[in-house]
Amino acid sequence: MTLISFVEVCKSFGGHLVFGPATGIIRRGERVGVVGPNGAGKTTFFNLLTGFHKPDEGTILYKGQDITGIAPDRIMRYGISRSFQVVSLFEEMTVLDNVRIGVQSKLGFKGRLFLNFETNRRIKEKALAILERVRLVDIKDQLVTAISHGDRKILDLAMSLTMDPDVLLLDEPMSGLAKGERVRIIELITEDFRKDMKLIIVEHDMDAVFTLSDKILVLNQGAVLALGTPGEISNNQHVQKAYLGERSHAAA
Ligand SMILES: Nc1ncnc2c1ncn2[C@@H]1O[C@H](COP(=O)(O)OP(=O)(O)OP(=O)(O)O)[C@@H](O)[C@H]1O
Ligand SMILES: [Mg+2]
Repeated sequence: MTLISFVEVCKSFGGHLVFGPATGIIRRGERVGVVGPNGAGKTTFFNLLTGFHKPDEGTILYKGQDITGIAPDRIMRYGISRSFQVVSLFEEMTVLDNVRIGVQSKLGFKGRLFLNFETNRRIKEKALAILERVRLVDIKDQLVTAISHGDRKILDLAMSLTMDPDVLLLDEPMSGLAKGERVRIIELITEDFRKDMKLIIVEHDMDAVFTLSDKILVLNQGAVLALGTPGEISNNQHVQKAYLGERSHAAA
C-alpha cells in the first residue's frame, strides 16, 4: 500500500529550479534512505513533504490524502514529523525541559506559562518516557550547552518523537558523529523506531544507508535518479556514474 506519493513535484528558488519534476512512490513498511551529493535536493524534499516549502507544481499524497502546500503544523498532525539537519534546541534549558516544551505544544498548550498540576504531571511523564526510549534519561537534568554532540543529535530525535509520528523524516541524524556515537543512533533506528514508525532518512554515510534502508531514493540535481532496493541501487549504472562513481557499494 502507498504511504507517500509525489507526482511531478517542482520547487524553484529565485527562478532557479532546485527540485523536480520528481515523481515516486514510498510504500508502507519500507524504510527509505535518501541519498545524493550536496545540494541534490534532499533537505528540500523533506521541506516539501513537511510543508516547510510549498511546491510550485505537482501533488503530494499521504495515505491517499492530498497534503500539497498544507502548513507544517497541520502536516505534523497528519502524523509526519521530522528532525532538522541543523539541530536547534533551547540551549540554556535542561534536556528534560526541551522535551517537555515539545510535548506541551503537541498537547495544544504551546507557549502557556501556567498549567494545572495534572496537566504538568502528564507532560512530564510523557517527556520522561521519551527520554527513556532514546536512552537520555540519565542526563535529563543537564543543560543542553553541557551535553555532547552525540547526545544533542539524539535529543533532536527525541524532539521529533513528541509528536507521536507515524512517519519520521530524519535529516542526517548521524552527521558529525564519531563511529561509536553513530552506533547509538543506528541501534535506536533499527531496534526501536522501526517497530512503530515509518522512517525516511537522509544520510551521507553510505554504509549506514545501505544497512538501514529497504529502499533507497537517489537524488541528483533535484531529480529522482533512482528508487530501488539497495541491491538495485548498487547495480544501477546511472547511479554509479552520477554519484557513487568508482566507490559503488557493490564494489566496496
Ligand atoms: N530557501 C532556499 N533558497 C534558495 N535556495 C535554496 C533554498 N533551499 C535550498 N536551496 C538550494 O536548493 C538546492 C538543494 O538544496 P538542499 O538543501 O535540498 O540540498 P541537500 O541535498 O540537502 O544538500 P546537503 O547534502 O548539503 O544537505 C541547493 O542548490 C540549495 O542552495
Ligand atoms: Mg540537506
